[in-house]
Amino acid sequence: MSKKASIGVTGLAVMGRNLARNLARHGHTVALHNRSPQRTRDLVEQFGDEGDFIPAYSAKEFVNSLERPRQVVIMVKAGAPTDAVIDEFAPLLEKGDVIVDAGNAHFADTRRREAALREQGLHFVGTGVSGGEEGALHGPSIMPGGSTESYESLGPLFEDISAKVNGAPCCTHVGPDGAGHFVKMVHNGIEYSDMQLIAESFDLLRGALGYEPAQIAEIFRTWNTGRLDSYLIEITAEVLAHTDPATGKPFVDIVTDQAEQKGTGRWTVQIGLDLGVPISGIAEAVFARSLSGHADLRAASRGLPGPARTPLSGAAAETFADDVERALYASKIVAYAQGFNLIQAGDTEYDWGIDLGALASIWRGGCIIRAKFLDDIRAAYAAEPGLPTLLNAGEFRKAVEDAQDSWRAVVATATRLGIPTPGFSTALAYYDGLRADRLPAALVQGQRDFFGAHTYRRVDREGSFHTAWAAEGRPESIA
Ligand code: 6PG
Repeated sequence: MSKKASIGVTGLAVMGRNLARNLARHGHTVALHNRSPQRTRDLVEQFGDEGDFIPAYSAKEFVNSLERPRQVVIMVKAGAPTDAVIDEFAPLLEKGDVIVDAGNAHFADTRRREAALREQGLHFVGTGVSGGEEGALHGPSIMPGGSTESYESLGPLFEDISAKVNGAPCCTHVGPDGAGHFVKMVHNGIEYSDMQLIAESFDLLRGALGYEPAQIAEIFRTWNTGRLDSYLIEITAEVLAHTDPATGKPFVDIVTDQAEQKGTGRWTVQIGLDLGVPISGIAEAVFARSLSGHADLRAASRGLPGPARTPLSGAAAETFADDVERALYASKIVAYAQGFNLIQAGDTEYDWGIDLGALASIWRGGCIIRAKFLDDIRAAYAAEPGLPTLLNAGEFRKAVEDAQDSWRAVVATATRLGIPTPGFSTALAYYDGLRADRLPAALVQGQRDFFGAHTYRRVDREGSFHTAWAAEGRPESIA
């Protein structure tokens, strides 16, 4: 009998192809399938010497080339294409076989598919994979959901091909059904927030100090040797240092300033709203991209009055870059604190049993938000799994305390000069909102009760109250 593959990949565009190559390079026999056979042929022709591949040119041939339990990794576009591939393969599979969706699917779709396939005796594993094409090839961070049973066969393979940090694989079983795709979605939301904060830091250094992109690249390189050490800071320095060969101008100045998005950031905000979790940093990052894309609205608003943009000078100028570093660090802690709170809320809602420390651990390497400080997050949750907010964890609390004068100074300078910093500003407002003794929400409750008899609770008595606003003496009643 001919050799069988331990895993198969269908959908061989760049992510699928690189995952398949990564598996083969680690000594696993990989079955290959793609809707148009040319991609399958190309892969074998170009990379066939990297390991054992079994090319298949029909769904049936593909399924038959897999050992049991069959493990089929789907790497196609999220949405209808994923359903189409599942519909094609599920009837060919047998009880106990595993279908893995490694694309950026919405976790609600994953829950729906998992439930439907479970009825047929199949395991469906929605898996987050982060790290882009390079990560897929050299070691991504992998976030599988699905059943514990499916992880028994799949886990060793995925752990094998994942990134490693101090020898530990950046892959863990996140939780059942949609847990993997949920945390990948929040990963992307945090990614949006982090990217926005870094972009604002650049804008501040340029707008308030008049630095050129190449100078700012050097500042980012320095930051990358300290506590901000992260993939996103590293690549930002690369992008800022790059000169456009056609014009000789800084690359960043020849790129249209309209940021695009494929949807995972927006999904994160939508779920944040549904679950009532204030993820304002992620929301502002999504809105900042959306504002940037409104070319007509921006053109119509360009002449609106603003303050003079006189660059800083003297002592304020000298300390400004350090102030921005501190503000960035503090705002970044807020971004992660909000993201992890959303994961906690999802975990409670869907009863997934997510280990936040283990999650932070697998985000230390391979993924887009990989950063030195994820190890501190891992340690914070390991010490206190039910931590209400990262902002209150030892090291982070101290860092924010040390940063807060700078944080406030940076937001004040941005406001004074008219430099938009939605990420920094909302992060600071969130921080101040959380730590406030009393919030004007009490007044909002009063307003609601006034016009709609929506009732309010009192600080000194149990129960719901309504004030008869129109009546003489305004008597209160217990609603
Ligand atoms: C990753 C990335 C990847 C993709 C995002 C962002 O973890 O490897 O997050 O999944 O780059 O979807 O894409 P947009 O910025 O286009 O929304």
